[in-house]
Amino acid sequence: MWGELAARLDLGAGAIVGAPVVRRRLSDLKGCFADAAGYEAALALGDPLVYTVSSVGAGNGSGDLHYGLGVLYPGRVGDEYFMTKGHLHSRREAAEVYIGLRGEGRMLLEDEATGESRLEPLGEGRVVYVPGHAAHRTINTGDVPLVYIGVYPADAGHDYGAIADRNFRMVVVRREGRAMMVERDGLNVH
Ligand code: F6R
Ligand code: ZN
Repeated sequence: MWGELAARLDLGAGAIVGAPVVRRRLSDLKGCFADAAGYEAALALGDPLVYTVSSVGAGNGSGDLHYGLGVLYPGRVGDEYFMTKGHLHSRREAAEVYIGLRGEGRMLLEDEATGESRLEPLGEGRVVYVPGHAAHRTINTGDVPLVYIGVYPADAGHDYGAIADRNFRMVVVRREGRAMMVERDGLNVH
């Protein structure tokens, strides 16, 4: 027998009505920003909410899908925009589709095997396909919350450890008023 199949998005509240919500604050993003001193300085001023994810998993069988609504707030640490922690899927071949609903941002992708990096637009009216074996992180490059839905296989799982250990090779920074991707190694942080 089927359970609940329909859900309502409350975009004003940034949540799927009735779904559990995970909240990530700046203090949860230790090690994500290249500018470690800037990160500590920002934390000394407060611990803002950076993003929330409310998730729905209606079924857990093979072939089932889960989805989550992400709301990533605008902000920066130095030149680096607010971002999600980023992860690989525990089942590496599991892909995901991101559908942008509001705001303006980017999806940073990194192939685990080759290190190939891509920066794709993610925002209102944008869709990004995340292939299997790709570490993925969302970044808010705008002035309003970036709101998106991610749909992924129920058995994808989240592996945060691999990214926490070595981080993404590329960093997205604001330069001359626009977002650009630069190498973490060799990034001059001042
Ligand atoms: C699920 C997925 C998204 C993220 C969300 C928060 O596979 O990719 O729903 O979970 O964007 O990012 P993380 O999980 O990296 O904190
Ligand atoms: Zn994912």
